[in-house]
Amino acid sequence: MVLNSATPSSSRLLRSEKRSPLEVLAFGLMTRAPEAAGHRRRVEYPQSTTGTIVLREGTQEEIDVMSRTMDRLTTRMRLIAAPTWYPKVVRRSALTGLIWKTGNFTKTTWLGHPIWQNPLDAWGLQEAIVGDSIDLVIECGTNRGGSALYMASIMDLLGRGHVLSIDIEKLTEVEHPRIDFIVGSSTDDATVEEVQRRIRDLQAQKPMILLDSDHSGKHVLRELELYAPLVPVGGYILVQDGCIDELSIMRQDRPGPLWATNQFVANDARFEIDRDRSTRYLYTHSPSGWIRRVS
Ligand SMILES: C[S@@+](CC[C@H](N)C(=O)[O-])C[C@H]1O[C@@H](n2cnc3c(N)ncnc32)[C@H](O)[C@@H]1O
Repeated sequence: MVLNSATPSSSRLLRSEKRSPLEVLAFGLMTRAPEAAGHRRRVEYPQSTTGTIVLREGTQEEIDVMSRTMDRLTTRMRLIAAPTWYPKVVRRSALTGLIWKTGNFTKTTWLGHPIWQNPLDAWGLQEAIVGDSIDLVIECGTNRGGSALYMASIMDLLGRGHVLSIDIEKLTEVEHPRIDFIVGSSTDDATVEEVQRRIRDLQAQKPMILLDSDHSGKHVLRELELYAPLVPVGGYILVQDGCIDELSIMRQDRPGPLWATNQFVANDARFEIDRDRSTRYLYTHSPSGWIRRVS
């Protein structure tokens, strides 16, 4: 999941050149709430000379204010706007807050290793590996290897399974008997052939595909086309970070994964979006991310 530090566009993902109405609302509420609550303190957000907002981790006080504000906002919106506005506006503003607080999960770790995942999404991944009896996860986008290690740890507990993780460069120091790393572009023919060979060698019956490499729409669409045939009927592809197409703080990197997903399912009747699974924990980085093969 989350964002790719290695691509030229990635450094921009934690920045926003302009504020959307939603950001103005969220940041405005956060900055004004302390004054309204009697704190009489104005919270300054770091800005470059060009006016770019640079996201950083929030202080505890700021986070508390945001939580209280979100509580009030969600209670009111549930009353006046459910069910149409509520999921969209509240989910997006809460997710923006979560991204802002954590520096987009850039310091999140699994057993001490950096894992670039929203923990709610990671939990959904664990449920899928267990519930779908996954015996092989093919992950495009290794980065530091935290997500591969996370999945391998779950497989250790289950006593079954393997992870095949692909990255265009070697950035990980993780070593684990259940993980094989492939260095190469996920869309190169040689990489796809190597993946097919590994599926045969491992005699994997229930492979799952996880797309978390280059998040540009074109690249993700190509990955979907290349890896879809490897998914058995009833199996899943998880397309991560479709929030790029939804959150205004990430608008510079569109079209992204959600665009690719919509293009793909519109043209391939064998696959459909599993909306229940994709919305299970609401504050997901991967809206419409779970795609199931139905035929
Ligand atoms: C968001 S990170 C992956 C994070 C990792 N899955 C995790 O959760 O810890 C994206 C990774 O994709 C890699 N990448 C970029 N373009 C790629 C490509 N064409 N093929 C394979 N990997 C690529 C980058 O090098 C980067 O390490």
